[in-house]
Amino acid sequence: MRLLANVNTIRLEMRGISIAFPGVQALADVNFYTDTGKSHALIGANGAGKSTLMKVLAGAYSHYTGEIWIDGKQVHIRSPRDAKLLGIQVVYQEVDTVLIPNLSVGENIMLEHTVHGMKGKHVMHWKTLHQSAQEILDRLNVKVSTKKLAQDLTLAEKQMVLIARSVSMECRFLILDEPTAPLSHSETEQLFHLISLLKSEGVGVIFISHRLPELYEICDDITIMRDGKFVIRDELAKIEQDQVVEYMLGSKLEGQFPKRKSNIGDVCFEAKHIDDIGKVNDVTLKVHKGEIVGLAGLVGAGKTELCRALFGASTTATGETFLNGVKLRIYSPFDAVQSGIALVPEERRREGVFVHESVDVNLTASSLSRFTGKGAWLKKSKERSEASTIIRDLGIKTPNGDVLVGNLSGGNQQKVAIGKWLLVDADVYIFDEPTKGVDVGAKRDIYNVVAELAARGKSILYASSEMSEMMGITDRMYVMYDGAIMKELVTARTNEEEIMLYSTGGLRK
Ligand SMILES: Nc1ncnc2c1ncn2[C@@H]1O[C@H](COP(=O)(O)OP(=O)(O)OP(=O)(O)O)[C@@H](O)[C@H]1O
Ligand SMILES: [Mg+2]
Repeated sequence: MRLLANVNTIRLEMRGISIAFPGVQALADVNFYTDTGKSHALIGANGAGKSTLMKVLAGAYSHYTGEIWIDGKQVHIRSPRDAKLLGIQVVYQEVDTVLIPNLSVGENIMLEHTVHGMKGKHVMHWKTLHQSAQEILDRLNVKVSTKKLAQDLTLAEKQMVLIARSVSMECRFLILDEPTAPLSHSETEQLFHLISLLKSEGVGVIFISHRLPELYEICDDITIMRDGKFVIRDELAKIEQDQVVEYMLGSKLEGQFPKRKSNIGDVCFEAKHIDDIGKVNDVTLKVHKGEIVGLAGLVGAGKTELCRALFGASTTATGETFLNGVKLRIYSPFDAVQSGIALVPEERRREGVFVHESVDVNLTASSLSRFTGKGAWLKKSKERSEASTIIRDLGIKTPNGDVLVGNLSGGNQQKVAIGKWLLVDADVYIFDEPTKGVDVGAKRDIYNVVAELAARGKSILYASSEMSEMMGITDRMYVMYDGAIMKELVTARTNEEEIMLYSTGGLRK
């Protein structure tokens, strides 16, 4: 591995960076600097410009203005190749789309070496390839077989493989754009070890995350952005978390969770003996009208699989579901929607939004039937006004409803995925980790929307691995472990410790 580790620290500096897209000034005169051997947190609300600033650094755009300096010299970065030659590597927010699925881990890691030639040789022997890849993984203490196909990796493993690939090339600065959003607690710890190791070897790490507490575990310095502008840069230890939030949002965050007065009615939704080969185990549950029922449990407990089974998105699931006492026949998500069940899925970019369609089209897609049969012009204007309500309620940051969803920031794409189900008049709403990857202000907007649905008498099933959300928003919860329900808890009579106990299978015996 050729780390350009250097005894001397090297400074990377971005000066007065500006870039615009149609209708958006994404960055306005932004300054940023960091050094090798340090880890730097880049923080801001959804759409603040974090990913865009890092894309400029990684050579994804050529139409920005401003200067980039490395080690006291001005450099010119207008293409990914320019950035790589300067030792700047980036692992983007959408890990899933970067690895080549039907190539092995070894091939994926060594891909660029084989394309560009390694040590002058343009063809690489298969055995050498796996050996070299293995050396890289060993050095980073990443336990993944180099022979495994990329498509068989978990998200966490993909993340690790991508980092390994980045640092296998000349790497002075490594940018990690929200690497922990899909990771479990232990996977996150593993990633943090890796970051410390890289730091000690002289790599400068730039780290973007919406999980503020974890910044304090691994970051030395912080830069905060708001609305495409630089706000403040300091040592992280000098800024408290509350202050970080205030700088991000431009105002204090009062009351993260909405104050609710639950008005719980009759049983609305019932599921009996749901099974899905090894992933969901004999789950029986019910949700009343106006009730928010949590599905608690750690990452990997089977919450997503259960949600998908209830929504007809698994072909192998068995069991029965009922709505208002009537047995449902759900064999596909289409059947589920027809029956009055909506699901906001976890893997939103892949399943939740159409990136090549506009915000308006996405928001109204699920409820199209409501707009048809009335003449096209009427449909269009109704679509617009309904969509604009959702854009406002969820604070979706977009110049207007015609913008392609693929051009929104990561967190705002998530909000679109949630928003599109709010126009569907369903009886049961299933949310699967709805606040993953969204900023603290947006989280509050989402909790408000969920609470409002419940207040309108809807039944809500809310899956999340965040204990604080279980305590903050639900009336009652089922705690899952290993595909099964370990315990049913009433929120007012439990606490995070008890949820954690059952989430880890604590009282199983
Ligand atoms: N290719 C593009 N075309 C049009 N607009 C864009 C493009 N890329 C970014 N933008 C806009 O620039 C702004 C900043 O987006 P960016 O992705 O940098 O935000 P972010 O801080 O990374 O947010 P998140 O936390 O949600 O990932 C957003 O308003 C976004 O819609
Ligand atoms: Mg981003």
